[in-house]
Amino acid sequence: MCFNSILLHRLVINEFLYDLLSAFSMKILLTRSLHDFAVKELKKRYQVEIYTGKVPISKDLLISKIKDKDGLICYPYDKIDSDVINAGAKLKAISTFSVGYNHIDVNTALERGIIVSYTPEVLTRATADLAMTLMLSLFRRVSEGDALIRKKAWRTIFGPYEFLGTDLYGKTLGIFGMGRIGKAVAKRALGFEMKLLYHNRKRLSSQEEKSLNARYVSLDELFRRSDVISIHAPYTSQTHEIVNLKLLKSMKKASFLINTARGKIINEKDLVAALKKKIIAGAALDVFQNEPISASNPLIGLKNVLMTPHIGSATIETRKKMAEITVKNLVLSLARKKPIYQVKVESGHLDQF
Ligand code: DGY
Repeated sequence: MCFNSILLHRLVINEFLYDLLSAFSMKILLTRSLHDFAVKELKKRYQVEIYTGKVPISKDLLISKIKDKDGLICYPYDKIDSDVINAGAKLKAISTFSVGYNHIDVNTALERGIIVSYTPEVLTRATADLAMTLMLSLFRRVSEGDALIRKKAWRTIFGPYEFLGTDLYGKTLGIFGMGRIGKAVAKRALGFEMKLLYHNRKRLSSQEEKSLNARYVSLDELFRRSDVISIHAPYTSQTHEIVNLKLLKSMKKASFLINTARGKIINEKDLVAALKKKIIAGAALDVFQNEPISASNPLIGLKNVLMTPHIGSATIETRKKMAEITVKNLVLSLARKKPIYQVKVESGHLDQF
């Protein structure tokens, strides 16, 4: 081996050891534990602190814990605002275990040179499946039937007007937010022979519209003409409470609303009023204005609403993939390399999901 190549070899080894040592001196915070394999990976590289208290962590505690951390792994219910980000004087990377990143003040992070990363794509199918599950459950009154039997109140069978639901076949599904998840819902709905309308910030190409058999309409028309609306838009300043009483009143009396995106896209008070007054037939919600919802939330008392506890991505396979990406995103970011999925803009795109 010549002198130059020995020198180069040493340099590479030194750089590797330097990276390893500097990584190990890095501190990271998880606002909640991840899968064991993911925590193990992180512990090989960094000094890891995992918050194990009540979820979500309080702002004061988060601010005190972030002070000496280089990296943060967070979840959609954490509020990573400018106070938190600025308290992290050494913070270099934020990796969220979610496709949504509206809980992070991305502008402040970017100004500080902090890399923000997220986990799209891997949860598309699981979330689309949940939207279809909720749709089928609403249309066929599945949870009502289950409750009836558990109450030991099942008395009659096969009456001509008993426990009737609605066909999905031939009904019009309105998809608000035609990104990855919206398109996956469209594909599934086609299998049920539904008609498709959609609204998105950006219209799809005519080729995509043709392959999904979906027609682009304005938001007003979407709400007016659909038998069921499914929301798949991200939460941004433009979508904040965009679904309000005016829009709900324009819906058909027999129509349904499904939300697996973000709770704050709907004005929850208006939705409660619309459900109470039977302005629409029902709603299925996986997301809420505040999560977990409080025991006094009026939605709990309503019969025509079906609720799940924010489980859009909650399948064994999907959550495992999300954990893998969350770790890879953080490791790459802390090594000053490009993460697999990097957040680049504050307001997001309507097709972020
Ligand atoms: C996300 O990842 O943002 C979803 O809300 C999870 O269901």
